[in-house]
Amino acid sequence: MTFDQTKTARRWDDHWSKHDTTSLPKSKIKIAEELLEPVLESMRAGNTVRLLDAGCGNGVHVEVIERFLESEAVDPILFSGTAVDLSSQAVSATQRRVRSDRWTIIKGDAIRLDFDADAFDTVLSVGIICLCDEPQTAILELVRVTRPGGYIAIYSNTETSPITRIGLWLARLIGNTMGSHARKAIALISAPIIGLLSPGSSVSIKDDGFSSCHEIAEANLVSPITRFLDAADIRKWIETSGAVIDSENKERPFTAWCRALEESQA
Ligand SMILES: C[S@@+](CC[C@H](N)C(=O)[O-])C[C@H]1O[C@@H](n2cnc3c(N)ncnc32)[C@H](O)[C@@H]1O
Repeated sequence: MTFDQTKTARRWDDHWSKHDTTSLPKSKIKIAEELLEPVLESMRAGNTVRLLDAGCGNGVHVEVIERFLESEAVDPILFSGTAVDLSSQAVSATQRRVRSDRWTIIKGDAIRLDFDADAFDTVLSVGIICLCDEPQTAILELVRVTRPGGYIAIYSNTETSPITRIGLWLARLIGNTMGSHARKAIALISAPIIGLLSPGSSVSIKDDGFSSCHEIAEANLVSPITRFLDAADIRKWIETSGAVIDSENKERPFTAWCRALEESQA
């Protein structure tokens, strides 16, 4: 273990125990549906999907896939899913979303996954690498467990404009030196005005109401462990991990589907 995961797990346990983990905001569902579309399409076409959700949080991707399996005439045998999170609260929240027998939901570390190489066809990493002290190592691990030719979704906060960066720096400085009450105050103040997605995005978290904005502000803006990475670095780490970017959505914080290379291409 290269950094203190107990502290990270405790922070996220605290986060999920303070926020409603039962209801999922419409914006989160919409973003997850858009991200998962190629996976759902692949199942519609009759392909088998062994999926890993690394850092499942309160289970939005599990929910979207469960709805898909229920509503479409897709043989459920085509799908098997595993969801992993450091936080027990996240694991319990995700377990509550499961309605089929296609899932294994477990506590685990996305940086040191307890799975063989090439174990999955599709790996999701949404809002995880920006929480890791060693994001490059995290990407290597995600690619390791993906079979050659398989796909990895990577979604991460990235650096924004200089003004926003200064605002974030100040919010974190105050939040980190003055403790959890200060962090909460900053999240409460910023919740109604934040728009974490880029202006061109069709999804607005503001439509989801105050409590969702509060949750997103706490998780992303003032959390002392969330970083804003440089998108160029993420692209470089992907290339050196044995994967290539297949498609990137420039309307979002860094969002890309990557393909693990066949051995002959790596
Ligand atoms: C910002 S939330 C994102 C949750 C979910 N992927 C989503 O899209 O809503 C981050 C989650 O990642 C988990 N997490 C952070 N670092 C992790 C790690 N190294 N391994 C597994 N889970 C981790 C946290 O416990 C938290 O539940």
